[in-house]
Amino acid sequence: MKQICVVGVGYVGLVTAACFADLGNRVIALDIDEKRIEGLKRGEMPIYEPGLAELVARNVHANRLFFTTSYSKALEKTEFAFVCVGTPSGVDGEADLRHVAESARAIAQHMKEPLIIINKSTVPVGTGDWVADIVRGHQVNEIPFWVVSCPEFLREGSAISDFMSPHRTVLGSLDREAAEKVAQLHLPLRSPIMITDLRTAEMIKYASNAFLATKISFINEIANICEELGADVKEVAVGMGYDKRIGPFFLDAGLGYGGSCFPKDVKALAYMAAEKGRHPQLLHAVMDINNDRRPMAVNRLHQMLGDIRGKSIGLLGLSFKENTDDMRDAPSVDIAKALLALGAKIRAYDPVAMEVAKPMMPEVEMCPDPYTMAQGCDALLVITPWNEFKQLDLEKILGLMNQPVFFDGRNIYDPENMSRLGFNYLGLGRGYNSQKTDNTLTHVPEATASP
Ligand code: UDX
Repeated sequence: MKQICVVGVGYVGLVTAACFADLGNRVIALDIDEKRIEGLKRGEMPIYEPGLAELVARNVHANRLFFTTSYSKALEKTEFAFVCVGTPSGVDGEADLRHVAESARAIAQHMKEPLIIINKSTVPVGTGDWVADIVRGHQVNEIPFWVVSCPEFLREGSAISDFMSPHRTVLGSLDREAAEKVAQLHLPLRSPIMITDLRTAEMIKYASNAFLATKISFINEIANICEELGADVKEVAVGMGYDKRIGPFFLDAGLGYGGSCFPKDVKALAYMAAEKGRHPQLLHAVMDINNDRRPMAVNRLHQMLGDIRGKSIGLLGLSFKENTDDMRDAPSVDIAKALLALGAKIRAYDPVAMEVAKPMMPEVEMCPDPYTMAQGCDALLVITPWNEFKQLDLEKILGLMNQPVFFDGRNIYDPENMSRLGFNYLGLGRGYNSQKTDNTLTHVPEATASP
């Protein structure tokens, strides 16, 4: 049993702490936010993540997971300290490293034995070296320490399974032995472990997120072109995805990427490049395409409804994506704001995010279910592709609405079926094609039918 300290119990930290505890380690999770730590001691989760409350409870009960606000307690007899603090965007897109610096200083002042400091937060390339300087400069006694980068690749909504079955673990360090020790902690996960230098590991995180964001902006651009040329972007994505060099994932056209990572990481990577005199053209195009998605949704509704003033519009989903209550950089916030400014009345339903969303959009009427929300609406807009929206009684919804305008910002419904039901339906990139048949997948062998 290894003893691990996890600094910062936000999204990444709490999942990391609970999962390492579940793998049999003794984990002390630390946060300077006393309210958060007191809540966690009572079993209250600061975020919604499927399975997390149960995982935390199980490991607290088994005496493997502890919560504290004291660095001194957290670092006693501890061999590994994972730093999982927030790195928000600064004004120009640069990462704000205040919390990383604070935690490095506190670790330096309270460490009592040799310590491997592992950075999981997404930090600009070069931060590992900078952290080492801070620790060196603030140590009370000279105790050996090593800095390792171990970027997180957790997706909200599936963070526990992403942690337990990662595609890879990337470790960066200038000290091979320290990286090997951190690799040992990850061996039970049975995933490829790559050891490289600090800066390369830090860059792998940015490059991965920027690439995924590029895929999303790419398919959104293709969706725009499909609309003009009469092709269906959903089927285009399926057809592309069978090519193993492309792959089927991250090709869902929608309202653009949001959340706490992609917007900030693409911006930060562009900032790092610009600081060194480079002009990252592709990254700027990715951001521009993404920035156009929200106003595009408002324009579409405008076109479908005519004058928006006084119209009642229902938002299906508020969180930036499904299976989370995270509202950070959620398209719903900007879209609701723009529609309200045009004089619309906005109602909304989200399975878990309404409590978090309410203070961010006080004028929006939160409804207890999609049917109550649809009552008297002139238009509905799908913002988040929650599974439960795929099972709605659409005829009932149609009967409740004032006008049958339906804008599906996540392409979760079948356009033909929606039109057949009587909706004035619009998806994204689903241009009408008179030659379209129903047999898109019928000649695909069983084993490969779903990419
Ligand atoms: C992401 C990365 O996937 C993860 O590896 C990283 O560590 C943190 O950032 P997350 O922000 O939780 O995870 O969400 P993700 O599932 O990656 O989706 C990001 C955004 O892209 C969401 O707004 C989502 O709705 C959007 N998206 C995703 C699309 O619009 N289309 C897609 O095909 C996929």
